[in-house]
Amino acid sequence: MNVLLLGSGGREHALAWKIAQSPLVERLWCAPGNAGIAQEAEIVALDPADHAAVIAFCRDNAVDLVVIGPEAPLVAGLADDLSAAGIKAFGPSKLAAQLEGSKSFTKEMCQRASIPTAAFARFTDAEAAKAHVREKGAPIVVKADGLAAGKGVVVAAKVEEAEAAIDRMLGGELGAAGVSLVIEEYLKGEEASFFVLCDGKTALPLASAQDHKRAYDFDFGPNTGGMGAYSPAPAMTAEITARTMDEIVRPTLSAMAEMGCPYKGVLFAGLMITAEGPKLIEYNCRFGDPECQVLMLRLMSDLVPALVATCDGTLDTVSLDWSDAIALTVVMATKGYPGTYRKGSPIGDLYEAMAVEDVEIFHAGTAEQDGKLVAVGGRVLNVCATGKTLAEAQTQAYTAIGEIDWPQGFFRRDIGSRALVRHPGG
Ligand code: AMP
Ligand code: GLY
Repeated sequence: MNVLLLGSGGREHALAWKIAQSPLVERLWCAPGNAGIAQEAEIVALDPADHAAVIAFCRDNAVDLVVIGPEAPLVAGLADDLSAAGIKAFGPSKLAAQLEGSKSFTKEMCQRASIPTAAFARFTDAEAAKAHVREKGAPIVVKADGLAAGKGVVVAAKVEEAEAAIDRMLGGELGAAGVSLVIEEYLKGEEASFFVLCDGKTALPLASAQDHKRAYDFDFGPNTGGMGAYSPAPAMTAEITARTMDEIVRPTLSAMAEMGCPYKGVLFAGLMITAEGPKLIEYNCRFGDPECQVLMLRLMSDLVPALVATCDGTLDTVSLDWSDAIALTVVMATKGYPGTYRKGSPIGDLYEAMAVEDVEIFHAGTAEQDGKLVAVGGRVLNVCATGKTLAEAQTQAYTAIGEIDWPQGFFRRDIGSRALVRHPGG
């Protein structure tokens, strides 16, 4: 098989690493890729936003499967255009990708299918939104309706904070993403990310992970795309997983099919495990980044047949083996991220870090310049490790980080630590 992977982050490096191991794969290309992905795939200069160019590349190179990593091309309908051209594409249609692209679409789908989620109301008028917040009281959550690259959610501890967020979002700070707002009940509990492959009818659970979204240690600082993760998430017990499949995932698949937009691809459920059970915070229509990195390290089976079965509607014939090991990843980011940061700082001694036992390093914002590795993004490296216990994986990952010479980089020192305190020995 010939496979084209689209994207350039740590998620795509982990996918490229896993896809390249498949005996089914003859050639693997990636666009636009990064310096780490270049070790696994042939890099091609294709813009995923240029659908005609992607289709032409697939035709010229007999591509059998396109794997779409990030959400933007999915929300823009790339999977639809590839399918219409007769090219197999892993990832949901534009209509189905609204599960990530539109918070109000997801909330209405949840209502229709009686899926447990935070109570909500939708507003386009600031005064009405503020009156609602004053009536409900704090804590309360204000969300921009559209895609806002992680900047569209404010968990407000005070009413005034929620009012300020309403003014900023409806005042145009987020452009089109903030034309309408969703105001939600605050859910209390333990968060977990849960991933499921869906072929429109059948849902095949993958695994769970725990993300660390804030920039600095002990959950201080601004929200980011994710500064580290580990898998599995301790909150996702067998019972909670079964309830999530029965109460959230399967009703979603049925509702989406009934609504004329069957969901095909990976469904990423952001969950709050509350005292009453799992509740949906949000859906994403892709693998999480950095959650994908820890999932791929634990997946023992070949990923490619599962991706093909997802496209073909034959997931009922697939089963996947997972390692009992714990996988953990620490993100190294450029100082300044998630705000502004400098590009082009050199990274040294990566090979020494890669030589640490049970360590795998996936690249995000890296490039090769004059034979040297440099940082060109916010999130730059994912230093991952596996271990029999979380403590073991954590030790190996931080040992590897200790080898890396990158003065412009920073990372959190507490990835996995909260779980170690709550589940000692885990
Ligand atoms: P989202 O972009 O929807 O994942 O929201 C970002 C973060 O805000 C989540 O990971 C949660 O930590 C938090 N959050 C979102 N919605 C709620 C809610 N209804 N209750 C409590 N926390 C929330
Ligand atoms: N790490 C969270 C996300 O990929 O959305």
